[in-house]
Amino acid sequence: MSFTQLKERDHSYVMQSYGRFDVAIDHGKGATVWDVEGKEYIDFTSGIGVCSLGYGDEGWASAIYEQARTLGHISNLFYSRPYVDVAETLCKRTGMSNVFFANSGAESNEGMIKLARKYSFDKYGKGRGTVITLNKSFHGRTITTLAATGQDVFHNYFFPFTEGFRHADANDMDALESVAGHDVCAVMMELVQGEGGVLPLDKEYVHKVAKLCAERDWLLLIDEVQTGVGRTGSLFAFQQYDIQPDVVSFAKGIAGGLPFGGIMANEKCAGVLIPRHPCHYLRWQSRRRCRGLRCTGHAER
Ligand SMILES: Cc1ncc(COP(=O)(O)O)c(C=O)c1O
Repeated sequence: MSFTQLKERDHSYVMQSYGRFDVAIDHGKGATVWDVEGKEYIDFTSGIGVCSLGYGDEGWASAIYEQARTLGHISNLFYSRPYVDVAETLCKRTGMSNVFFANSGAESNEGMIKLARKYSFDKYGKGRGTVITLNKSFHGRTITTLAATGQDVFHNYFFPFTEGFRHADANDMDALESVAGHDVCAVMMELVQGEGGVLPLDKEYVHKVAKLCAERDWLLLIDEVQTGVGRTGSLFAFQQYDIQPDVVSFAKGIAGGLPFGGIMANEKCAGVLIPRHPCHYLRWQSRRRCRGLRCTGHAER
């Protein structure tokens, strides 16, 4: 099928929500891709920071194939080995305490925001749910992460947006202090802003923000959806900033193209997100049936 035919079909059947280049990519190997008409390109986009292993990586493809043949999906009502393996590797390589998995960067950031609000609610009660983010940031395209994103261009059309976000210029402590208040529970930022123009934050500024967060018991939330998984030379960018964030989000490069992401919490935040018991979801009221599932948590509900 020629590019023109493919483009016509795309315009007929796909919502035209993205501006695209006039190129249809057919396949790739390493850092090279070929379009449907056989033209070769060196790809510097890497799926916008997603394809951490390049295209057509044999190990990546075999791992997906083997896992799909073994257990394609299991709900989060049960334990599963690969889940634990990834979580343990991430914790051991970062010094973080535990992990919550999600499907995308935006969803991971929502998890991070929820964790911060719950941490604050558990400790201080209502009225402390505001998260400060930076101007020119980008945190995702859900209604909440659009509100978190510090760019006016993303705050259109989809009203009402989630409340509880204030924005300050990057690398400017006075700006941050000027939007602070008693209702704040966290500061969320990328250490190198991606979407808003490649802007690395000053180390000194980041240290000052970390200090202020510690003093006021605000959580320091680092969005590593774009910078994580080797994109800045270390596994995560925060490891070059000599800080210990409270929560770090990741996605994109973690799975090289599969929809996957999550957040890592430090010791202080490791116990904030707790379960409703599986019986709730299964609507099984009886303890006897619950025990049949080797359930250990019912009594604690
Ligand atoms: C810093 C940052 N956070 C969050 C996101 C949203 O990630 P996703 O597109 O996986 O939802 C992006 C996407 O570009 C990003 O760059």
